[in-house]
Amino acid sequence: MSVHTQNTRLTTTKIRQMKQVGEKITMLTSYDFTLARLVDQAGVEIILVGDSASNIVCGNQYTLPITLDEMIFLTKGVVRAAEHSLVVADMPFGSYQVRDDEAVRNAIRMLKESGADAVKLEGGQEIADAIRRMVVAGVPVCGHLGLTPQSVNQLGGYGLRAKEEAEAEKLIADARALDKAGCFCIVLEKIPAALAERVTREVSCPTIGIGAGAGTDGQVLVLHDMLGLNEGFKPKFLRQFAHLNEEVHKALTAYVEAVKDSSFPSAEESY
Ligand code: KIV
Repeated sequence: MSVHTQNTRLTTTKIRQMKQVGEKITMLTSYDFTLARLVDQAGVEIILVGDSASNIVCGNQYTLPITLDEMIFLTKGVVRAAEHSLVVADMPFGSYQVRDDEAVRNAIRMLKESGADAVKLEGGQEIADAIRRMVVAGVPVCGHLGLTPQSVNQLGGYGLRAKEEAEAEKLIADARALDKAGCFCIVLEKIPAALAERVTREVSCPTIGIGAGAGTDGQVLVLHDMLGLNEGFKPKFLRQFAHLNEEVHKALTAYVEAVKDSSFPSAEESY
């Protein structure tokens, strides 16, 4: 059974219902109008304007430098493209960790100025109060546990998280806290599949996995990675559904050649 609505963006209520009826949820990142429109037209339920834009769009090594203003700017373009997909915007590093009232104000600003339907925050029990206040204020929130790239300096890299019992138990407690605070879904990044499956059973909201096995309620990938645009990036969890790097390179070198040998533009391509 499908719980999709026609010609309107999906709601967080529908996303919750998908878990109840056992329909897998798809989420992909987008950072601009043109690709977001293709993602929307493909029937992807959730478009995530991830702070991975810091890497993918801006060329930074980490997600930390991207600002709230920059995230709002990118999200606006995605929102204009999304007719069916729910748009979730990442709250960037520093926009919600300092004080709860500032966190709520920034989340409201994201929704008001970008038109996003929801926000995503990284962290567990330590941000549960801020999330509760956002939800009360009318801001739907997606949680994010496991590998949380905004904490890369603390984690010491991008390796698999929660392999050890203590960290796994903390992750389960964090997931329960996010669920109780009112998150409509939780992203689980790079954790053992068995743990992701356990969390999925224990929380009422849907879980969306990336590098977390097949037992979650949905899957998310970074669009540029799954399209094969980042040639060198091929972690174990990533499936490249296309190899656009090669296609784009072929097109670009063909263009250079055609201009150089004056075969472009042809008479038919001229006025
Ligand atoms: O920023 C992002 O792209 C993300 C996904 C990897 C879940 O948070």
